[in-house]
Amino acid sequence: MKKIELHDYEIIFDDTLSSLNDFLSNHKYSKVFVLVDENTNLHCLPLLQNILSDVAIIETKSGEENKNIAWCEMIWQQLITGNADRKALCINLGGGVIGDMGGFAASCYKRGIDFINIPTTLLSQVDSSIGGKLGVDFQYGKNLIGLFRNPKAVFISPVFLKTLPKRQLINGWAEIFKHALIKNKDQWNKYKDIDILKDDVSDIVYESLLIKKAVVEEDPFEKGLRKILNFGHTVGHAIEAYSLENDKQHLLHGEAIAIGMICEAYLSVKKCGLKGEELNEIKTLILNYFPKHDISNYDENKLLEIISADKKNDRDVVNASLLSSIGNCGYDIPISREEILESLVFYKNV
Ligand SMILES: NC(=O)c1ccc[n+]([C@@H]2O[C@H](COP(=O)([O-])OP(=O)(O)OC[C@H]3O[C@@H](n4cnc5c(N)ncnc54)[C@H](O)[C@@H]3O)[C@@H](O)[C@H]2O)c1
Ligand SMILES: [Zn+2]
Repeated sequence: MKKIELHDYEIIFDDTLSSLNDFLSNHKYSKVFVLVDENTNLHCLPLLQNILSDVAIIETKSGEENKNIAWCEMIWQQLITGNADRKALCINLGGGVIGDMGGFAASCYKRGIDFINIPTTLLSQVDSSIGGKLGVDFQYGKNLIGLFRNPKAVFISPVFLKTLPKRQLINGWAEIFKHALIKNKDQWNKYKDIDILKDDVSDIVYESLLIKKAVVEEDPFEKGLRKILNFGHTVGHAIEAYSLENDKQHLLHGEAIAIGMICEAYLSVKKCGLKGEELNEIKTLILNYFPKHDISNYDENKLLEIISADKKNDRDVVNASLLSSIGNCGYDIPISREEILESLVFYKNV
């Protein structure tokens, strides 16, 4: 059983999840609540039935559009109805939506109760379940209302990925690509040669998390270095927020970030000296798994407005995290509206 140790919690890689049993017996929680959505209730909760007896289930509705304050109110209501005191535990069993929202709801309830994450999507296993960023969406602002707080533990098992739809599996690869692009060229090179749908991802999840761990431990509150994890997210978050409001079938987080990474790799050439061949490499591999999405009818002024309102900016300057080469990323690089528009044109013409 592998572990990654962070300052105040562990990520436990445990196929059978028997270590969750030990965790629960070692911590004498007054009551255990398990937060699920309808999919993780159906597919994931039964896999834990031997371990999770005598727990209260709180079911939310899946989807980014439900990562909001209204659903938090429902969670708080159920915690109150279930008599949750400050020694209660919330287990977030699900993808990034459950993790971000459940962690946020738990952290606000009675000024904070413990929570643990059992991520059940590839994206949440490689990214959102660690690092302590919690929150919900508000108006056009992705994760606009939220806070930093770490889980008590994270349990990762490949068993959950078996029921994950293919689109969701590919979605998670956006963040795996991002981790390699910002910090590890060898990993990036390896990903060029594998079939991401066929190969076993357990080792990849582990190595990708090592990158995130190193970054978030050096800068837990995003004062500096941690901003490199936002590569692809300046443009990507705006595309995601816009798509959520306007597309009939909206883009998933990773799909929007894939577009953002291509745009920001273009900006990296202009602003940070990324080589043209590397831009090509990035574009080719990403498009291989995230085919070009038609953004020709997206309102560019609205996209710029969303980007300007992003919580990552200082005052009026839009700052991005850009690559100087594959494996090396800088941050706080100011980009102009014109440059952002140019990068969108680049994507439209790939
Ligand atoms: N906090 C962070 O640092 C961070 C980092 C990256 C992304 N995020 C957030 O994560 C969210 C995206 O997370 P996600 O991609 O996991 O999406 P998600 O939580 O919406 O899950 C995707 C879908 O898969 C279903 N599902 C989950 N596990 C399943 C399983 N094992 N079998 C079958 N279906 C399953 C869910 O019900 C949902 O319909 C976004 O809100 C994004 O902002 C947060
Ligand atoms: Zn992301």
